[in-house]
Amino acid sequence: MELDKKFIQQLTNVTSEAAIACKNFVGKNDKIKADKAATEAMRKNLNKLDIDGKVVIGEGELDKAPMLFIGEKLGTKKGQAIDIAVDPLEGTNFVAKNLPGALSVIAITSKNNLFHAPETYMNKLAVGKEVPKDAVDLDFSVEKNIKNVADAKNKDITKITACVLDRPRHKQIIESLKKLKVKIKLISDGDVSGALLVTENKYNVDIFLGIGGGPEGVLAACALDAFNCTFQGRFLFKTDEDKKRAHNMGIKDFSKKYDLHEIVKGDSIFCATGITNGDLVGGVIKKNNIIITETYVTHKKSDFKKIIKTEFNT
Ligand code: FBP
Repeated sequence: MELDKKFIQQLTNVTSEAAIACKNFVGKNDKIKADKAATEAMRKNLNKLDIDGKVVIGEGELDKAPMLFIGEKLGTKKGQAIDIAVDPLEGTNFVAKNLPGALSVIAITSKNNLFHAPETYMNKLAVGKEVPKDAVDLDFSVEKNIKNVADAKNKDITKITACVLDRPRHKQIIESLKKLKVKIKLISDGDVSGALLVTENKYNVDIFLGIGGGPEGVLAACALDAFNCTFQGRFLFKTDEDKKRAHNMGIKDFSKKYDLHEIVKGDSIFCATGITNGDLVGGVIKKNNIIITETYVTHKKSDFKKIIKTEFNT
């Protein structure tokens, strides 16, 4: 079922309001308060919408309330039944430390079209639409993936850029990339944005790979779908508790590799508003009595891919 285009502006307002609420905490070295401000603003504004919404990707489960938790119902219940993925503040460190790249993010599909996943890590891989879907795979070596991307893009391997989260767990990947003389874009946080850098050549990133948050993977998949990119993700369930929660959500095969269309089906809308300036969008600007936000928006069915500037009076 298609999503009404009216959701584009409505959700842009939702992430904008969350970003504005969070802006007050930029540089305050308090991740918790920043996240709480963004979450409360997001919940308040989602609850005003005529939707019968349910959070399927959120911030923990019921026990973590008052965060936007998995299973939480949102909206007036009058409208379309939709699945919602939220990350009210993507990049808590960025806001706390006044660094570039913080976003407020949301994605929706119609009911039962978005993967239901617990909060856990995910091994991810994303490439742009020029690379054939079967040219890359989470089960290929880094060398094979890079070589195939270089071939598909008709580039020398040394001209390829790979985006990776700067984490000790990626030591092996980074070593392999260095050996291949691939350019590495090491990001300290924010892998929703990291994955989306493969969508267009202007960002100069050819492949995104490595382990990050599962919810961030599902969110990125929605926007990557609008650009016909390739995405694969494999959840990493380490503890028995992780596995139990996953099992209760219907996940039977804990080592399954998911392709993009197993994560997001049919139509989707994705919105990410900048809190601080970043690669994708600028941050919240306050000028006299006006607040300006920039939101990166995609709508799969209408092929809508734009950065929307919104002005709010204070
Ligand atoms: P938060 O905004 O929740 O702090 O997440 C930031 C982030 O960098 C994500 O973009 C990424 O998926 C995840 O953290 C990686 O987790 P970790 O910091 O544990 O490696």
